Amino acid sequence: MKFRVDRDAFADAVAWAARSLPVRPSAPVLSGLLIDASDEGLVLSTFDYETSARATLTAEVADEGRALVSGRLLADMDGLIASAVEEGFRYDCPVQGNLRGVLRETEVGGHKLMPGDRAYLFYTSANHDPAHYDEPDRFRIDRDWTREARHYAFGFGIHFCLGAELARAETQIAIRTLYTRLPNLRMKAGFRPQQVPGMVFRTWAEIEMEYDGAPLPRLSESSGAA
Ligand code: HEM
Repeated sequence: MKFRVDRDAFADAVAWAARSLPVRPSAPVLSGLLIDASDEGLVLSTFDYETSARATLTAEVADEGRALVSGRLLADMDGLIASAVEEGFRYDCPVQGNLRGVLRETEVGGHKLMPGDRAYLFYTSANHDPAHYDEPDRFRIDRDWTREARHYAFGFGIHFCLGAELARAETQIAIRTLYTRLPNLRMKAGFRPQQVPGMVFRTWAEIEMEYDGAPLPRLSESSGAA
């Protein structure tokens, strides 16, 4: 892709596109800027769960094409995958909460709890506690987990999730593989996923994605292994 464009107009369009992304995006990992160069000029689009915006710019296009200016995770997969996955678990944990039985009289947030009472613990709420996290409502892909409180997506105490390390490893491998094999993988522009609500589990009904070209071969295929 090769084009000539007015530098200020391009900078303005990029700034506008960045501003059009929501302050608190639901899927910041997937955010990015797509540049399409064709005989109509340049089309810049942003995509996210909430917003998709488009700006068209006059440009001299010498060579048509498409490029994705990806978010930070894609630019530094090795450096950020662990903290990105951890932040994902904190920011919107798959298991929202759990029931506990009260064993002894106690007080939580001004509420008296007696033995035999049932309490519903919202891990999500604890994960956004401003007393424990710097900017709790921001998805910070490079959150420093050696400095900030651990999160509660896998519960805590004697029932702490036995599969936490497996879940972490699987999630990291899945994200890395998807983004490595599917070129320019992104949320379909304008698509708005519907959340499936629930007291315990919360998920998405479906997420429409798109990518450019053909999937790259599996690692085992490209290395010639059986
Ligand atoms: C993203 C994936 C997962 C999430 C978010 C998750 C989350 C949780 C949560 C919140 C609890 C309750 C902790 C508590 O009551 O304090 C739990 C318990 C448990 N999880 Fe997971 N889990 C995941 C994956 C897995 C996997 C892959 C396995 C097994 C291979 C697993 C096995 C268990 C078991 C056995 C318990 C019960 C532990 C006990 O009661 O002593 N989990 N998990």
